[in-house]
Parts: sequence; structure tokens; C-alpha cells
Amino acid sequence: MTDGGRLRDRRLVVVSNRLPIVLSRAEGGEWQLERSSGGLVTALEPLLRDRGGLWIGWPGVDEDDFAGFEGLLERFAIEEGYGIVPLALSERDRNDFYLGFSNSVIWPLFHDLQERCDFDPRYWDAYRRVNRKFARVVAANAREGDLLWVQDYQLMAVAEELRYLGLNERVGFFLHVPFSDPDIFWRLPWRSELLRSLLQFDLIGFQSAQDRDNFAECIIRMDMGAQVEARFDRIILPNGRRVDTGVFPVSIDFDEFAQGVDRRSVGARVEEIRQASGNAQIILGVDRLDYSKGLAQKLLGFRMALERNPELLGRVTLIQLVVPSREDITEYNEMKEEVERLVGSIHGEFATHDWSPIRYIYGSWDRDELLAHYRTARVALVTPLKDGMNLVAKEYAVAGPDDGVLILSEFAGAAAQMSDHALLVNPFDVEGVAETIRRAANMESADRSRRMHALRDGVRREDIHWWLASYLRSFEHSLEASQPRTAGSPPPSASRYERRRRERRRYWYSAEA
Ligand code: ADP
Ligand code: G6P
Repeated sequence: MTDGGRLRDRRLVVVSNRLPIVLSRAEGGEWQLERSSGGLVTALEPLLRDRGGLWIGWPGVDEDDFAGFEGLLERFAIEEGYGIVPLALSERDRNDFYLGFSNSVIWPLFHDLQERCDFDPRYWDAYRRVNRKFARVVAANAREGDLLWVQDYQLMAVAEELRYLGLNERVGFFLHVPFSDPDIFWRLPWRSELLRSLLQFDLIGFQSAQDRDNFAECIIRMDMGAQVEARFDRIILPNGRRVDTGVFPVSIDFDEFAQGVDRRSVGARVEEIRQASGNAQIILGVDRLDYSKGLAQKLLGFRMALERNPELLGRVTLIQLVVPSREDITEYNEMKEEVERLVGSIHGEFATHDWSPIRYIYGSWDRDELLAHYRTARVALVTPLKDGMNLVAKEYAVAGPDDGVLILSEFAGAAAQMSDHALLVNPFDVEGVAETIRRAANMESADRSRRMHALRDGVRREDIHWWLASYLRSFEHSLEASQPRTAGSPPPSASRYERRRRERRRYWYSAEA
């Protein structure tokens, strides 16, 4: 796999709100490092380890306590092979930018949950202020010729702020979350400002064709005089500047998961977990505690599966890991209570003296523990209401047993690649989820193996190195064509847009390819 030409040799500078590590003070007051959770970190970490470079972001530490961890970061850089530039956020930044605009406006909006949005005007100001902060740190650390790559919804205005600072380097962007449906996006009070900010990037990467098209349709709707080319992958601004867009489904480091699961330490845990679960097949769920993950609906589906299929009693156990996330947002806490109430009621209704229908863990697993659970799980239940990609689905495809079954939400970005061989469900359809659980638990071994094999092959082919290479190739093309252009094709008419929607082709993993 080759990177895109000249860009391959450049120093990679990744900019994201969340760093791969979180710093916190241990009991004795000394600093300690923990691994961050979330798909962005899982995806990018192996790339930085592989190529070296720099990662700029927030280590979760308050501005007032921002000193004394330099030695830790230096050791980290030596061990991991890339540098970390930590950026401080004040308490106000954390409240109004991180918990506020990022996670109480953009996160729900982009997951089509507009009723959860809090359009507090203070949040927008904070978003601009903190994006400027990030831009200053990027400008102070970037060298000529660096490959600048900004990640995710928290930092959509960084390129614009870099331009204000006089930095005219080309800057890439990748959105890990979905881009909302245009009708929903239109409710954002700062919709034009945000779209204009995004247009300051040179290549905007999306997880799916749907996300890319939603964005293009918003640009057309804004009627700012930009021309959107018919294939939706190039936008010509009124001043002639060109912005490219592309679809790059994010992935995982195949080798890391495939080899990791063969570690002896993992094998030993697999045995222990098997023994603890007795004769019951394990159904596994791994989710951050987030309303987009559809945890309550998943539990209702599982409960209905047990109610309607008594033959499953004693035969299956759902192990659900819920990873703490954004705990300072009230709605996240309310959701925790709801989930725990449901877990309690399922347990109360069905548990017997020698069988638990459900094991709920609110906390964190290290990589070995996660891999051991993937390997033991007969079925993975991945049912987000909406998700940019969902890397848990891909991790299970690689690390799960050879005859595992993946139940996957049709609203996860991963469904575009995995729908041929996973069992797709509508996560809002509790009866459908229940029926699919029954089907998975009873599926013939040959069918399971064939599906799992195909899923694994797909992730092997389109892993995280493939993702980077395809992004860099597009970036390279956009560099080659970077002469400002004044002419382009006219904006597509509504009917052309509709046609394009109908024609949109998804592509599938297949066992044969
Ligand atoms: P999201 O990015 O919304 O959390 P994904 O499914 O794409 O959803 O990614 C979740 C990632 O978090 C996976 O790569 C998973 O392995 C990882 N993960 C799960 N549990 C932990 C944990 N305890 N610590 C760190 N990472 C975790
Ligand atoms: C998702 C987002 C990431 C984010 C992660 C964890 O994966 O796309 O940008 O880092 O969730 O959320 P947190 O708020 O803890 O960074």
C-alpha cells in the first residue's frame, strides 16, 4: 500500500481535541497517563506510532494545573515514537466549548437528535475562541512542509483561524461523526458561519457518501455562489479557491487486533471467561455511555428476545461493557440511570440460581480484556441509533471467534461496508432486534463461519493504513490541481441532486473480492 506520493514523506501533524492519553493526578499527587477511549484514538494511534510525527490536543487537564508532566510526555514520545503537544483548556473552555458547543450542540445535531441540542449563544463564541487557541498552537509548532491534519467535529473552525493567523499551508480535515441531514443541519443558528469555516480546509473527508452528500447539499442550500461539481467531490468558491471532499471509511489496525488476540495473556483470559459463563453463549456489547449508542433500545430488544424465546433462557448471556463518557453532561447521567434500571429489571425477571441473563460492567477494560471478550463472544450486538463508523464492529470482525455473528445497526457508518455479512437491524425496531438475536443464536455454524470470514477479509483489505493511504492520495490530487480555478460546472439542479441520491452506490465487503 503506498501513501499518496510526496505527502508520504512529510511529517504528520494530527490535531484533535482528544489526545490518545489523558493525564490525571494519582493519589500521591504525581501525574499519571491513561489511554483515552473512543474511535478517533483507536484509529489514529497506530498511524502515529508507525510514521512518527506530532499529535496536538487536550490531555483532559485544567489550565490552572497545567505543569509538571513534561517528563512523562518525553518518555511517552520515546516509547511511542511520536510527540505530544498538550494544549490547556480553562474551566470555561471545558464547559462552553467541550461540554457546550461540541457535545451539546454539534454531537446531537450531527447524530440527528436535534431535540437534544442546547443552542446557547455563549457556546458558539467559546467554539471560535478555543478553535483559535488550537490554531495558535498549530502555528507555533508547524514546520514548513508538514502535513497538517485536523480531526473531528470539535475543531471545524481551525483552518479558518489558521488563515487569520496568516498560515496558508494546505490543511486537511476528517469528520469522524456523521454529517447531519440538511433539514436538521439547517436548524443550527450558526449554520452559515460553520459551513464557511469548513470551507477553509482543502480536503474534507467523510465516513460515508451520505455524509459527504449531506454536506454538499448544505453548501448548495446556503446559496453563497459556490459551485458544487456534479460528483459532489469538488467545490469551487466564488473567489476561485477549490475545496475537495471525499469518502474515507475509517478503520482499525488489522494486525494489531489479529495478532493481539493470539497473545498468551489473552488466551488465558478467554479460558477464564468461558468457564465463568458455563454453557451460555456470550452476546457482547461494548459502547461508550452515549445516547447515540442506543443502549436502552438494545436492552429492550434483548429482554424481548428472552420473553419470546424461552429456549434462550440459560443459553445466552449478554455481557455489556459501558465505558464512562462526558459524565458532566446531565443527559449522560440520566441515561446511565435508565440503562441500569433496565439491566436490573432484566436480571430480576429472568435470573436463576445458576444463570445470569446479563452482566453489566460500567468501567474500562484494558486491551487484553477487550480482546478476550471479543474472542469469547458468539455474537456481538452493535446497535447505535446513528454512528459515524463504529469501530467496535470492525474490531469484533477481526478478534472475534471464527464463527462469530455480528449484529449491526443499519445506521452505523460500518453498515455500508459490512451489510452483506453482518445481520443488519433497525435499532429502533425492538421486535426486529429481538428476532435477530434469536436468529444469531440459532444460526448454522457453516453460515456463521462464512460470514465472519468475509467480514474479516474486508477489514484486512480496508484497514487503517488503507484509510490513510486513500486520504493522502486524494490530498495529493488536490495539491496537483491546486491552481485557483474560476470556472466549474454549474450547481446541480434539484432534480440532478435527487438522481444522484438515487444512484448513490454503496460498496460491500465480499468474501470473493
Ligand atoms: P466511539 O468512537 O463513538 O466511542 P467506536 O465504536 O467507533 O465508537 O469506538 C470505540 C473505541 O473505543 C473502540 O476502538 C474500542 O475498542 C475503544 N474502547 C472500548 N473500551 C475502551 C476502554 N476501556 N479504553 C479505551 N478504549 C476503549
Ligand atoms: C467519538 C468522537 C471523538 C471523541 C470520542 C470520545 O469517537 O468522534 O472525537 O474523542 O468520541 O469522546 P470524548 O468526548 O471523550 O473525547
